[in-house]
Amino acid sequence: MVVFSILGTFIVAKRYYAVKERNKMKIIKASDYEQLSEKAAKITIELVKEKPDAVLGLATGGTPVLTYKLLVDYHRKLHMSFRDVKTINLDEYIGLPEDHPQSYHYFMYNKLFNHIDIRPENIHIPRGNARNLAEECIRYDEILEILHPIDLQLLGIGSNGHIGFNEPGTPFSKKTYITKLSTSTRKANERFFQEEETVPEYAITMGIASILKSKKILLLASGKSKAEAVKQLVLGEMDEQFPASALKQHDNVTILADNQALEELQKVKRI
Ligand code: F6R
Repeated sequence: MVVFSILGTFIVAKRYYAVKERNKMKIIKASDYEQLSEKAAKITIELVKEKPDAVLGLATGGTPVLTYKLLVDYHRKLHMSFRDVKTINLDEYIGLPEDHPQSYHYFMYNKLFNHIDIRPENIHIPRGNARNLAEECIRYDEILEILHPIDLQLLGIGSNGHIGFNEPGTPFSKKTYITKLSTSTRKANERFFQEEETVPEYAITMGIASILKSKKILLLASGKSKAEAVKQLVLGEMDEQFPASALKQHDNVTILADNQALEELQKVKRI
């Protein structure tokens, strides 16, 4: 009996450890935002050269702006083609028209799609103004089923640990769904909106389960405001209160962070 119970504990511990063991997140250091963006663009370009019909999972927000500009430069100056690339975005606000300057549709076309030769039918962004949002979530999951596995998923990270718009407390098993944005996320994103505008309360987002199906995940973090989150991501346990920690289950995650974003981690760990 005692032997069985010791064996049982060992097996459970071993399984727990197996999840932990996959936590081999690679860290690439960049001196600053410019270098981070150059490295992110280079990783993307190398993939597209190797696999011209690659599936790219794309993020919005402040962090990837320069990466996208550099991809546009590769296209314009070096004739890099994105003709057969397929893209699938993480999220979109609910209730903003697609042509609203803060909608993620507007962002993606304005920063990237309008300036490269990607085919319009290969671009996928969830529709935050769909009449039936439940159906839109199903439609998006169907697209994901067809496109999966995403070859390279670009992610940013919220200072509260969100990835996509998966806010603290989100089950890691979620597929596409409608989420209520946390106060801290709405506050952080106020900087993009005009003074008289309010940040939408809800968004549609790819769930963590779908993100985890990607072949490779590249998480970008820049600036001091991300330093605590990066430290927690690397050193913390898996915890649904810190959504990015779900990435510890994945065996091909790279954190590409600049010096400021690595500041807190470097105080306690040599990297
Ligand atoms: C945006 C997204 C978000 C952002 C995150 C960081 O599509 O999925 O998770 O990546 O909020 O945003 P920035 O880069 O503005 O700090």
